[in-house]
Amino acid sequence: MSTLRVNKISKIYEKHPVLDRISFSIESGEFVGIMGPSGSGKSTLLRSLGTLDHPTNGEVWMKDENPFELQQKDLARFRRKKLGFVFQQFDLLDTLTVEENILLPLILNKDDIPFMKQRLQEVTTELGIEKLVKMRIDSLSGGQKQKTAIARAIIHHPELLLADEPTGSLDSRASHEIMEIFYSLHKQNKTTILLVTHDPVIASYCDRLLFLKDGRLYNEIYKGGNQKEFFQKIVDMLALLGGDRRDFYTVNFPKYDP
Ligand SMILES: Nc1ncnc2c1ncn2[C@@H]1O[C@H](COP(=O)(O)OP(=O)(O)OP(=O)(O)O)[C@@H](O)[C@H]1O
Ligand SMILES: [Mg+2]
Repeated sequence: MSTLRVNKISKIYEKHPVLDRISFSIESGEFVGIMGPSGSGKSTLLRSLGTLDHPTNGEVWMKDENPFELQQKDLARFRRKKLGFVFQQFDLLDTLTVEENILLPLILNKDDIPFMKQRLQEVTTELGIEKLVKMRIDSLSGGQKQKTAIARAIIHHPELLLADEPTGSLDSRASHEIMEIFYSLHKQNKTTILLVTHDPVIASYCDRLLFLKDGRLYNEIYKGGNQKEFFQKIVDMLALLGGDRRDFYTVNFPKYDP
């Protein structure tokens, strides 16, 4: 069974269609990216799939559940149990410590303390941040903050990990480090990931890419070969897609050498 099935979802803001009848599925364990020019609806799509926004029409199925059919209270629980979020601006609580931030989903879920300790140990070791657990967020580097945010997003074993421009605030080195983490979550843990990015280098870590244009699903491509070949395919697709090239080429591009 697919982890996620999206059936003709649309989103209309003030009569302006931002998402237009988008359909696709994601299988369990897939690592899928979403690309498209600025304003094409990437964040709106991700927020809708994450139940942070409500589509105007269409259906979203996570396994056999349609979250938009749930009551408000059950929807909050669904989001907390089944989804993990990573954002460009980290969205951490700055005055709390790394460990307090990471544990939040388990605290909200009223999990027991031994389980929390065990999971904290596991995720911080996995992400190489076990020495940072007592530090306050506002004393960390951008890369360390994003690792903390990823740890918080996966501590409860979500069925779907959603990331919106997770490297958008990071330099090239930290961006690659963060993408190696996503790649390893996908390869080692079989985590199902859906990630939005502007950047063809970042996108080349994914296995499949969906391209949006003006709120519609324009095309999709699969990796097939190696990362460098995929990168070239992505650049070619972006050229076809048109739009402002400055939308795509970021600080990472000239330094890229896979
Ligand atoms: N809350 C809102 N109210 C009205 N319009 C909105 C709202 N959120 C997004 N939009 C509009 O929807 C369109 C798509 O926005 P969205 O943020 O999804 O694009 P995006 O592809 O993520 O762009 P970017 O690459 O710049 O992040 C834009 O035209 C935007 O102005
Ligand atoms: Mg966006």
